[in-house]
Parts: sequence; structure tokens; C-alpha cells
Amino acid sequence: MADQAETLREIVRNKIAVSEAAEPAAREAGNTEGKTRIITITSGKGGVGKTNISTNLAIAYAQLGKKVILMDADLGLANVNVILGIIPKYNLYHLIRKQKNMGEIIMDTNYGIRIVAGASGFARIANLTEDERKNFIAELSELSNADIIIIDTSAGVSNNVLSFVEAADEALIITTPEPTAITDAYGIIKIIATEMNKQDLGLKLVVNRVKSVVEGRKVAERMITIAGQFLNLKVDYLGYVYEDPAVQNAVLRQKPFMIVDPRSRASICLRHLVSRLEKVEFREGGGIGSFIRKLLGSKPRPGMDI
Ligand SMILES: Nc1ncnc2c1ncn2[C@@H]1O[C@H](COP(=O)(O)OP(=O)(O)O)[C@@H](O)[C@H]1O
Ligand SMILES: [Mg+2]
Repeated sequence: MADQAETLREIVRNKIAVSEAAEPAAREAGNTEGKTRIITITSGKGGVGKTNISTNLAIAYAQLGKKVILMDADLGLANVNVILGIIPKYNLYHLIRKQKNMGEIIMDTNYGIRIVAGASGFARIANLTEDERKNFIAELSELSNADIIIIDTSAGVSNNVLSFVEAADEALIITTPEPTAITDAYGIIKIIATEMNKQDLGLKLVVNRVKSVVEGRKVAERMITIAGQFLNLKVDYLGYVYEDPAVQNAVLRQKPFMIVDPRSRASICLRHLVSRLEKVEFREGGGIGSFIRKLLGSKPRPGMDI
């Protein structure tokens, strides 16, 4: 058993070394920054717009000429592919079961981004064995030729989500102005703060479905003040997305709103979010090697699904 674990660690170490060694090469091969920026998207409550924001943010980044991979890590309710109108042949299930590797499950789309499809309705995947988890993490190093990896996670607190948040360069917390969504967003920020003993985790708040700029700012200010006062945690306000019928229309057509309605208010907001993310200085020590190391370092937490 110990031997097996050591072998696995060795494989992962090699993969990290390979991915780090590949960073300069990745730059030449088209990874424009030589380093992959990893952005996790999460929320306290479901249905607040994570998948729509993840997908359209990915497209907005691709429209700036970035190589973008969108990973659907919502292992309960995967639906990036639904929003994109794609029926993937393979998904994270096959990767985790070691039936396929990352190169085999990643898919091109017509929207300038590549996706790693999620494994919808596969409850067991939310509870990976240590071996499956390590294999999954090792496979992530295959993604180092991307400039940006956006990870759409499930709502609420699971070890998966915490690991992703901890390991990513930035974590976007999505809320709406609804009191229940705000309470749950605060809840997840609190758990992140408790679980991770760091003051600056690159947490950024996005208020979705606002009716006015003021509404977004009020929600954000309240949460940021409370997080600072009670949790001693730094949270930034990244921005807002308007309530916009273009979102629902696009969902119904199974095409991203950035594509079918690029001049909609929601699309404009998404471009603003990207420009604000781009202005944010890239945090030192990030990138895929560090992401993998941090994921490996994050222990499964008792009492939670992984
Ligand atoms: N900015 C918005 N304006 C209008 N409707 C929205 C907006 N964002 C999300 N929605 C609605 O909420 C639904 C759920 O969004 P989704 O991205 O699937 O949430 P999550 O991934 O958080 O569960 C969408 O199908 C859409 O109908
Ligand atoms: Mg979703």
C-alpha cells in the first residue's frame, strides 16, 4: 500500500516537473503568458448563475485572444455542455475512472474555448478515493498549455470546492441580491476562511442579476465589510452582471449569450469583469504547478464529501 502511494506521488512529482518545464515551451506553443491562470467559480447557493458566468467569462477571455479551458467541476449538476448545446462523448467520469486521459476528454467548441465536460448525476464522483483524486490532479497538468483555466464548481461547501478554491489563483464567489443567496455566499466565505488559514485567498465577489449598479455595490460592500470585521478576510468586489432576459433566451437556445447577443447588457458586464480581472496583477507563485501542489497538499476533510 505504501509502495503504491509512493509510486503515485512519484508520478505526480514527475508530472509537475514536466508541466513546469513545459511552461517556457507552452509560451512558444501559443500560451501567451507562459503561465496558466486558474480561476475557480463558486457560490453558496445553487442557481445564482455560476455556469452562465463561467461559460461566458471563458468566451470573453477567448475573444481577447487567450487560450481558455473551461472545466465543469460541478460533479452533481454538470451543465456547461447543456448551455453550449454540446453532447460530449467523454467527461470527467471517464477521467476519474481512468478510462480516458485529459487529452482524450477535452473538447473543442465552436466558441473559441475548449471544455472539459462534467459528470452529471454521478454522485459517487463527489467522493473520490485518494487514488482517484491523485490521478485526477496529475491529469490536470495536461492543461498547462492554456492561458486561462476556468473551473465551474458546485454550490456549497464540499472538499472538492475547498480544494479548488485553495489551489486556484483566484476564486470568484457568485451571489445575487436575494437575501438567501447573500446569506449562503457569506456562509461559504466563512467556511473558506475557517478552513484555510490565510488572509488573502484572492476571493472576489460577483453580484449577478442586479437591477442597478448601486444594488450590486450595496450587496458587495455589506459582504466585504462583514468578511473583514468578523472573519478578517480580504474579499474584493469584482463587479456585477445585470438581470437580463438575454441570459434566459440564450440558455433556451443552448448557445452562450456572449455569442448570440454580444451587445446585451449581460455580455457587456462580462467583458467588464474580464477587463477588471486582467488589471489585477497576476499573483506570484500561481500557475498550474502551484495549483497541483496545493491540491495535493489539501487534505480531505472529515464529514464532507471530497
Ligand atoms: N444575469 C442574469 N439575468 C437573467 N437570468 C439569469 C442571469 N443569470 C442567471 N440567470 C438565470 O438563472 C438560471 C441559472 O443559472 P446557472 O448559470 O445555471 O446557475 P448555477 O450554475 O449557479 O446553478 C439561468 O438558466 C438563467 O435563467
Ligand atoms: Mg451550474
